[in-house]
Formats: sequence, structure tokens, C-alpha cells
Amino acid sequence: MGTHTNLKNILVIHGPNLNMLGKREPDTYGHETLDQINTMLKTRANRLGLFLETFQSNHEGEIVDKIQQASDSFHGIIINPAAYTHTSIAIRDALIMLDIPIVEIHLSNIYKRESFRHQSMVSDIALAQIAGFGSYGYMLALEGLVQELSGLKPAFEDNTQYFPKKTLSVARKASY
Ligand code: DQA
Repeated sequence: MGTHTNLKNILVIHGPNLNMLGKREPDTYGHETLDQINTMLKTRANRLGLFLETFQSNHEGEIVDKIQQASDSFHGIIINPAAYTHTSIAIRDALIMLDIPIVEIHLSNIYKRESFRHQSMVSDIALAQIAGFGSYGYMLALEGLVQELSGLKPAFEDNTQYFPKKTLSVARKASY
């Protein structure tokens, strides 16, 4: 299926109506298109030496099929199930079968919105949930997943392990 065996393979799944990003309720979901988000993710993944595939579908069954196929080829999943977040036991059941970390992402902060969006079928089986940072949340999801897959955890006694030296010196300068 085109995945790279020597690299960490990441699958990003976008649920229904996310193909309309850019045009769809920009005050809620931002002005970036799905293509722009996918390109940003692929560029970052490439720099990190990862293989990243993106998939979008408006159909619940297609998303279930994709998740089922993912088990042998991917090391981690980033998923925005969109409206299916709140309804889909089928997507939840498919995700539970995977033995790889799952990061749930939402562009908007679903907890600040209508009460029917406050429930997620995925959050309790996910490694983490990110909501409310717009398209940047996808980058955060990728960074977090990479930390998880590489086994690197924040080490507060020696945070050079976690933050590249350059970032640290810039951060120190800024705080003086
Ligand atoms: C969404 C939030 C969902 O409630 C909504 O149905 C979406 C997008 C988000 O990214 O903020 O389609 O998942």
C-alpha cells in the first residue's frame, strides 16, 4: 500500500465535510484548505524522516475500512472524525482493534460549542486529544505522536533531551 517499511508510518484520517475546509464556516474552522493542511503535515513528516499518508472520506464505512487496513502498515494514527466523533460506534470499534497510538484532533474546541459536540466516542481510547488550535493542532498532534513513537518523554531534569539546543538558547535569551 505504498508505505515505507524502514520509516515510522503515520496515517492521518479526516472525516466528513473536512474536504470543504477553507470554504466551510471559516470563523469556526479557519481559512486553510485540507490540501494546505496535508501539505504542511507531509513537509514536516518528511523533515522528521517519517512517511505520512492522508485520507479523507465523507462516508463512515470507508473510514472503518481504512482503519481496518491500517493495522499492518502504520505505527500511529491522527484522526479528526469530524461529526462522526460524536456518533460513530463503528469508528470507535475499528480504532479499538488497532494496537497503535491514536491522536484525536479537532480544529475547534468542541467543548465550547453545542452540547451534542461535547461527547467523543474516541477520546477515551486515544493517547491524546487536541482541540481548539485550528489547523496548527494537526502539527501538535504530529509532534506529540512522534515523541510517543520515538520513546522520548519530557525529562525536566535534563530538558536538552526534549528540546533541541538551539530552541533552548533562544528561549533563554528571550526570558532574560
Ligand atoms: C470538528 C468538530 C465536529 O463537531 C464537527 O462536526 C466537524 C469538525 C473539528 O475539527 O472541530 O466536522 O471535528
